[in-house]
Amino acid sequence: MKKYGVNEIREMYLSFFQSKEHLRAKSFSLVPQGDKSLLLINAGMAPLKAYFTGQEIPPSKRMTTCQKCIRTGDIENVGKTARHGTFFEMLGNFSFGDYFKEEAIEWAWEFVTKVLEIPSEKLYISVYEEDEETAQIWQNKMGIPKDKIVYMGKEDNFWEVGTVGPCGPCTEIYYDRGEKYGCGSSDCKVGCDCDRYLEFWNLVFTQFDKNEDGSYTPLPNPNIDTGMGLERIAAMMQDVNSIFDVDTIKAIRDHVCEISGVEYGKDPKKDISIRVITDHIRSVTFMAADGIRASNEGRGYVMRRLLRRAVRHGKLLGIEGLFLEPLINTVVQNSKHEYTELEEKYDYIIKSLTVEEQNFNQTIEQGLTILENYISEMESNNQKVLNKEACFKLYDTYGFPIDLTIEILEEKGFGIDEEGFKEELEAQRVRARNAQAETNYMGSEKTVFHDLDVDTNSTFKGYDSEIVESKILYLTTHDEIIDSAIVGEHIFVITEETSLYAEGGGQAGDKGFIYTPTGVFEVLNTTKVAGNKIAHYGEVLKGEISVNQEARTSLDVNNRQNTSANHSATHLLQSALRTVVGNHIEQAGSNVSAERLRFDYTHFEALTKEQLRAVEREVNELIIFGYDVTIADMTIDEARKLGAMALFGEKYGDTVRVVNMSNKSIELCGGTHVINTSQIGPFKIISETGVASGVRRIEAVTGFKALEYYQQVEDTLENVASVIKAKRVDDVLKRASQIVQENRQLQKDKESLNAKFAKLEAEQVLSNVQEIQGVKVLVSELSNMDMNMIKNLGDTLKDKLEEGVIVLASNVDKKVNLVCMATKEAVDRGINCGQVISKAVKIVDGGGGGRPNMAQAVGKDASKLQEALKMSIEIITEQLN
Ligand code: ALA
Repeated sequence: MKKYGVNEIREMYLSFFQSKEHLRAKSFSLVPQGDKSLLLINAGMAPLKAYFTGQEIPPSKRMTTCQKCIRTGDIENVGKTARHGTFFEMLGNFSFGDYFKEEAIEWAWEFVTKVLEIPSEKLYISVYEEDEETAQIWQNKMGIPKDKIVYMGKEDNFWEVGTVGPCGPCTEIYYDRGEKYGCGSSDCKVGCDCDRYLEFWNLVFTQFDKNEDGSYTPLPNPNIDTGMGLERIAAMMQDVNSIFDVDTIKAIRDHVCEISGVEYGKDPKKDISIRVITDHIRSVTFMAADGIRASNEGRGYVMRRLLRRAVRHGKLLGIEGLFLEPLINTVVQNSKHEYTELEEKYDYIIKSLTVEEQNFNQTIEQGLTILENYISEMESNNQKVLNKEACFKLYDTYGFPIDLTIEILEEKGFGIDEEGFKEELEAQRVRARNAQAETNYMGSEKTVFHDLDVDTNSTFKGYDSEIVESKILYLTTHDEIIDSAIVGEHIFVITEETSLYAEGGGQAGDKGFIYTPTGVFEVLNTTKVAGNKIAHYGEVLKGEISVNQEARTSLDVNNRQNTSANHSATHLLQSALRTVVGNHIEQAGSNVSAERLRFDYTHFEALTKEQLRAVEREVNELIIFGYDVTIADMTIDEARKLGAMALFGEKYGDTVRVVNMSNKSIELCGGTHVINTSQIGPFKIISETGVASGVRRIEAVTGFKALEYYQQVEDTLENVASVIKAKRVDDVLKRASQIVQENRQLQKDKESLNAKFAKLEAEQVLSNVQEIQGVKVLVSELSNMDMNMIKNLGDTLKDKLEEGVIVLASNVDKKVNLVCMATKEAVDRGINCGQVISKAVKIVDGGGGGRPNMAQAVGKDASKLQEALKMSIEIITEQLN
């Protein structure tokens, strides 16, 4: 057989099906769009589900793709076997209600035997046991001998995803690699677990719709979904043992060996590590290229695990320091022709994966310290086994790999509770599985819009027109299709054409009005809904509107203009960030309305004030220079040649819309924009914050909003100036510093005066001392003292008195403060300050008390202050008697 390379086989396959009138589409992103049942795309058909269910009309009834896929179900086996990998490419040809079994089989056979020239005598076929029709096609039309067709059960040859939805029987093509790969058993045949018979192409006949009750309804337009693992067919063609020996993957494997200085095929343990790194580096590179960021949940967690496993195995091979970057480069070099995003997002891929690698190295340091602590604990408790909770915590919370824990513990003569750890791990898997959204219809949510005719679409005509004459196609509430609506009703209106932009690409939906011969409808928001339709949400303002009426859509021009200005400014902001901060900056999200713009971008630390200023300046410069904004439709390849920036994971069609601001910013974008950048007006950043690890957010305003912002700041400054009596705004800082200075001095002066005053007051007050039953009693009113001052004075007086009891009161800020203090001798003689105060304070309408030697309280009625003091003398006298 000819030893075709991976890139050659891919091209042969796609052009073969192109010649059979299939639309050749680029691989979709690894991130599923509008499909909550999946974390990552795992098959060629996964991104095409809406075409299979009929919820969306495909761009062509025949399509062919080579789809990036990730499957992590078998992650523990990756590296251990020659077959398992997490990343792979799936070749597929699809029919959406077009051709069916006969053509699918005929073309598959033609491709395998005529194009790849695989000898037919080496091929075997499996069919679903109840699908005699397929067996007959193979036998009668393709001339496959009966003994080479194997019937298999539902488990192997029936394909269904989820509990309901499209599904059907399948037929698979097997290749006999020869006896040397066999297990030697006498009943070794197709389906045997050994490596001899390799299943390499699965043709699924999606002919049923599975119902909730488990029954199957035949689909009116049955589909074809096929899948062939590219790496697997390449291994077969190249007659090598494993996917790790296939040309493009071997290049990565060799590079791992070069970096680590370890030879492949010498030590089975080391080979495992080499294969793990080789596979995982492919996964994480492709994931990063699709905008996935390492995190602690969802697909971000999958990425983190893969990256950490790779780094960890690098350490097992003895690699020191950071080593991922050169390997990522090898992945990119080998696949960039088909996957142009690898080159376009190169800086970002390197930066984000290296930051994660660095963080993990730190995590290992941290984990080592924690492990040391566990070890000393075990030593002092005479334990030999680290408990499952500690193992799991290290693994889960600190990301510390369990094999590392085991290794380190073993070195010191300890072990782990492996069974317990597995239990914890399983419990976590169950938690994760339960957390995955349960969806019903191949992953998408059903809405009222799914019940509308999928063939009737609406078209946006509002890039250049404010008003469009059209007709109403549908009216709906949130969950019901209706015929008409009257004044006050809030509904959705779908027209054939509209001048209003539907929310999308981060840009808010337009506002405006819809006029019909009998009513007026105010549009509060415009959105895209299922089945390529545009829905206007709002309220009937006047009269009544009904289905099939003529309708004029009329745009709120002012609102649109402000939104467009903010959208254009967002493009300039991205360009400025790349100029000032670096080319690893990628858009991670955006949200543009008439009021403001918000731009999320990939970066790993806060911008400095200097960077923010430089970005602001750069954007304003691009505005002031007044660049024309030109918008053109072109092929995706032409756009790439221009250097247009594309978003992560966006589903771009064959022709794309390119928004070019005089080559200063070129982006693929479907939104609305100003005609010349000068129309944006002033641009001002309002905030810069972090939103997730590796993602920062800038909020900014433009035009009149920016002017308002400056005016508000100016107002505040002027108000401050007038309050602090600065003559001119420029003097505010000088004057404010002066005031702060003066204030500090005043505070100091006040404290020293207070001290002097207290001393004087003490001397004066002491003249009021009387003796009751041989005990010194001092009761006095003070002027203008707060509780603290009174207590301080009380302490001084107590020292001077040496033995006795003191009651002090002062009226300040409409409050009466009362304090009673007694020396130990006075308490021994029967004084109880708490009782004195609680009774006295009642007179001034308050409450409080305390201990025998000290009590305080606050009252409200200052007019009775003297009376309260008199009362306290009476109580003290009683207590001493
Ligand atoms: N969807 C089918 C598979 O993944 C072709 O095997």
